[in-house]
Amino acid sequence: MQLYRKEGNTIQILSFPAEEIQKGEYVLIKDSNHDRSLVTQIIDVQFAAIPGILEELLRNSTTDEHICGENLDLLEVAPHVTYVQDARMLICKIRGTIQNGILSTNTGWLPSRASSSITKLSTASLLAQARIGNDLPIDLGETRETSSVTIDAQMLDGKLNIVTGKKETGKSHMSKLLALSLVDYGAPVVVLDLNGEYAKLGFSSDGQKNEYHRRVRVLTPGDNFKITLKQMKLRVMMNILFHALHLPGASAQEFRRIWRFLKDHDTLTMRELGEVIRNRRCNLHVRDALCSRYYSLLDSGFFTDNHEEETSLKKAFCSIHGGGALIINLQDISSINRQIVVEFMLGELVELLTQSKLKAVFLFAEEAHLYLRETYWNDIVTRMRHFGIFTTFVTNQPNTIRENIYRQADNIFLFNFTNEHDLEAVSRASKVDAETVKSIARELLPHHCLVLGKVVGDFPIVVKVRALDVQTMGQTRLFFTDEN
Ligand SMILES: Nc1ncnc2c1ncn2[C@@H]1O[C@H](COP(=O)(O)OP(=O)(O)OP(=O)(O)O)[C@@H](O)[C@H]1O
Ligand SMILES: [Mg+2]
Repeated sequence: MQLYRKEGNTIQILSFPAEEIQKGEYVLIKDSNHDRSLVTQIIDVQFAAIPGILEELLRNSTTDEHICGENLDLLEVAPHVTYVQDARMLICKIRGTIQNGILSTNTGWLPSRASSSITKLSTASLLAQARIGNDLPIDLGETRETSSVTIDAQMLDGKLNIVTGKKETGKSHMSKLLALSLVDYGAPVVVLDLNGEYAKLGFSSDGQKNEYHRRVRVLTPGDNFKITLKQMKLRVMMNILFHALHLPGASAQEFRRIWRFLKDHDTLTMRELGEVIRNRRCNLHVRDALCSRYYSLLDSGFFTDNHEEETSLKKAFCSIHGGGALIINLQDISSINRQIVVEFMLGELVELLTQSKLKAVFLFAEEAHLYLRETYWNDIVTRMRHFGIFTTFVTNQPNTIRENIYRQADNIFLFNFTNEHDLEAVSRASKVDAETVKSIARELLPHHCLVLGKVVGDFPIVVKVRALDVQTMGQTRLFFTDEN
């Protein structure tokens, strides 16, 4: 390989056909004069633009059926010509410098073109040099060179993560892997499970109970997850009424009065609430508004007056003490009910965290735009992080996550995207340059992921995600199958 050009933070390297090169790999440009090396990553492989090459190719492709005679190559230049024709140009991005064995992000120098030697840098040695901590290793999978990639669970602690990619590329699989690894290290995990695909994490692929069986609790709203009004704070109820059920301000005042009245009389139940609203002497519109919201709450099946049925989140977290996952099964429930449950969950989590009943919690949210209200997005990345809610958003529609959220994301696990709009949305906002994202993400194979951010020391790395021996249930249900 030969150093050719540098433009901005892009370096072009001339490579010859014999050298096996792939996008995403790292190369080291060693400048022996200064005893330092530039770390660069290949983001594209092109043919080298050599003057006269078009003419040469055209000449070669003309049909020579009518030309008789022998093709003599007395000077034996043909192999050289082919060699030149196949020369490649590697487009590389500068990522850092290794000097005296220390890897830094210093990129403000130019290696010698004449005396630099260029070699491949294996991902394993890059990760070793980057000193990615290995105190709490999470095995993500392997690189193309089949060396394993481990990240440190501490780099997920207190962080905002995004898992995105097009349909069926392995996003949920990745989030399951991360969630179970956190559980292994004793962390409490909450999953907002939109498609009911995390419910069987406690079973291995052959249907047997696995080591997570006692640590995974599935809460299905309206079934084994019901709450009483008594365990709720008025603030959380008001959020539900405002944001999920769109109660107008005037009626909210009346509701507050009713709530306080019931609380003072220690009769805060759904039955009493309905009774009081129905018999309330107030503006007719206000009463109608309250009535309709009351019936929505009742219909959700999420509320109960029976204390034996009530679910205490505090107890649920106690039951997974030492590491475990609460899966909130949002499958098969209406969009309004989903919002009610999520409002309650987040309100309650903040409550438990502020009262120090819980140290911190890792929240995994699949397709959060379907149930998370506008104002929560910013809240989650700013305020809630201080309380100790560390979120991982999982989505196949990158434009549903706002640009400012991407910018604050500490880690992005990026799967394949082919659609230009999607690529644009991710590339504009992620911390690494747009070209890298577009060029590498477009060609990622299924189950392969480009990891960006702190977990990989800001060195983008392509990983083939390892398989999990759990019932992942992520498959799309098909009509035309052999079982029929
Ligand atoms: N690294 C992997 N090794 C083995 N199987 C995998 C891997 N990643 C994903 N799968 C399998 O591929 C299928 C699709 O994966 P998954 O459900 O994670 O995709 P997804 O991107 O979340 O899809 P969707 O957009 O439908 O939510 C699942 O059956 C899953 O078990
Ligand atoms: Mg999924």
